Amino acid sequence: MQIFGLDIGGSGIKGAPVDLDKGELTQERHKVLTPHPATPDSVADGVKQVVDHFGWTGPVGLTFPGVVTGGSHIRTAANVDKSWIDTDARALFSDRLGGLPVTVVNDADAAGVAEMSFGAGKDRKGTVILLTLGTGIGSALFVDGVLVPNTELGHLELHGHDAEKKASSKAREVEELTWEHWAHRVQKYLAHVEMLFSPELFIVGGGVSRKSQKFLPHIEGIKAEIVPAQLQNNAGIVGAAMRAAQE
Ligand code: BGC
Repeated sequence: MQIFGLDIGGSGIKGAPVDLDKGELTQERHKVLTPHPATPDSVADGVKQVVDHFGWTGPVGLTFPGVVTGGSHIRTAANVDKSWIDTDARALFSDRLGGLPVTVVNDADAAGVAEMSFGAGKDRKGTVILLTLGTGIGSALFVDGVLVPNTELGHLELHGHDAEKKASSKAREVEELTWEHWAHRVQKYLAHVEMLFSPELFIVGGGVSRKSQKFLPHIEGIKAEIVPAQLQNNAGIVGAAMRAAQE
C-alpha cells in the first residue's frame, strides 16, 4: 500500500509516495522552498505543488512542527508563523488538494513512528524517546512501541531556559559553540529527560544525527543507550504516511 508523505520544515516542503510495507519512498522526493512568512495559505500552496508534481490522487500524511491533535488541529507554533495556531490543518490542506484525505501529525512524532518501525527503534520494547535536534527540539515518546503523541519535551525548562533555546542544533550554530560545548548542553538536557522518564533508549534525530560521531562520544553519565536515527532525511515523510495509514 502507498500513501503520500510530506514533511514541512523550516527550509523545505518535501514529499514523495511511500511504500508502507518497506518504509521507503517509491520515487525520488520532490522539494519546494518553504515560503517566508510560512503562513497557512502560502505553505498550502507549496504542499499542492509537491503533490501535483507526482499527480497524486490518494491519501496524504503531513508533518507539522508543533502540537497537532486529532490529525488536524494545530495547537502550538513555536518556530513557525503564529497564525497557524487553531488552524484546522486537515481542512486547509484537503481543500487545497481538491478534497484528498489528509492527516497532519507532529514532525517528531512522525520521525519517531518511522524510526520505531524501520530504523533505530525497530523491535525495541520498553520506553524509547526520539529527540530531533534541529531548529527546535522535537520529541516522540514510545512505550512498548506505542506512541504517546505531542510530548513537546523540547520545551522543558533547563537552567531557567526553554531547553530548545540552549540545546537545539540551531543554538549550536547561533552561539558558535564547539561540538564539545554543545554536547555538554545536550548531556544536561538528556539527564533531565532521563530523570523524568528513565527510557531504555534515546534515539537522536534531526539533520545533526548525520554528524553524531562529533558529539555523541562527548556525552557521559546517561544510563540509557543513545543511538543516532537511521532514516535521517526521510523519517518525517515515511512517518507522516504511516500515521495517515493508521487513521
Ligand atoms: C515544537 C515541536 C516540534 C519541534 C521540532 C518545537 O519547537 O514545539 O512541536 O516537534 O520544535 O520541530
